[in-house]
Amino acid sequence: ADLLVAEMKAGDGVITHDDLKEYDAKERPAIHGRFRGYDVYAPPPPSSGGTIILEMLHMVEKLDLPRSDEPQLGRWNPKTVHLLTETMRRAYADRARYLGDADFVGPPPAKLLDPKYAAELAAGIDPKKATPSEDVAKDVALSDGGPSTTHFSVVDGDGMAVSLTTTLENAFGTKIVVRGAGFLLNNEMTDFNLRPGHTDRTGRIGTSPNQIAPGKRMLSSMNPVIVAKNGRPVLVVGSPGGRTIINTTLLVVLNHFEFGMPLRDAVDAPRHHHQWFPDVLRIERSLREKNPELVAGLEAMGHRVENHPGNQGDAHSIRIDDNGGLEGVADDRRSGWAAGE
Ligand code: DON
Repeated sequence: ADLLVAEMKAGDGVITHDDLKEYDAKERPAIHGRFRGYDVYAPPPPSSGGTIILEMLHMVEKLDLPRSDEPQLGRWNPKTVHLLTETMRRAYADRARYLGDADFVGPPPAKLLDPKYAAELAAGIDPKKATPSEDVAKDVALSDGGPSTTHFSVVDGDGMAVSLTTTLENAFGTKIVVRGAGFLLNNEMTDFNLRPGHTDRTGRIGTSPNQIAPGKRMLSSMNPVIVAKNGRPVLVVGSPGGRTIINTTLLVVLNHFEFGMPLRDAVDAPRHHHQWFPDVLRIERSLREKNPELVAGLEAMGHRVENHPGNQGDAHSIRIDDNGGLEGVADDRRSGWAAGE
């Protein structure tokens, strides 16, 4: 602590000994919800991950996603990606509208985890046409106007599962190492809403739940997820990727459980992301290469489709089969590998 405070002083930082004394790591119960008979466990605020992935999974249960015995046919149908985009758009608007540190703004409104609310949202989706993001949260006033988090999934010989995501915000955080202590300082303040009241079409959010206050924790998108069946973990997943994280984990869960893809394919499958604002459907390049007609179909429905400049996320995952057998799937998008002994 002495070293850290000295480093703070040297860099004109404002954190004192008293601030450190008053900061405790808090243990909070996971958010729990059901999806197609599975139990899904994911983080509560100050991460938005658990609330938003469950809101989206509940919506998916109500949507008429194209089904086929051939997973690839249902999954890459323009209607599927359209309906998932509309799901993401609506849930991410709720993220901006409601979520912040529960110690300051209270727990997420119960409706966000209520399948009835998800059904109402799902019913509001036009199956043929993109809804402009401006129309899904008219109550939020709009102004004009890189990576490197780490995730790993672990399951031990007794079947106990850990899904862990850790973040300094972008690569190397503030890029300041505490001399003599050897650790980096994070740059997490950027996860607070920057300018009160300034929500704009570029994706800046200024809504009140996640505005800065002394002692408050910033809203995260980290989303380490464990899916269980009959009290036994069956899938462990998570990812880096800032605001894309919740959608990345959603897509792995859906690819595997909703579309029946083997986990390797579920992780490899091209990803797509919509986060309410900017009102853009961002896709991994390979999606356009493999399915040009899918992208044309989405554009015809009114989506603005743009290529992701790189890859979306890095979702290292583990599947546990009925006999306790483990399949570790490293995502090849960044770094990492599967290992077992
Ligand atoms: O907690 C969050 O949502 C962000 N600090 C995560 C940042 C991140 O994933 C960057 N890595 N790619």
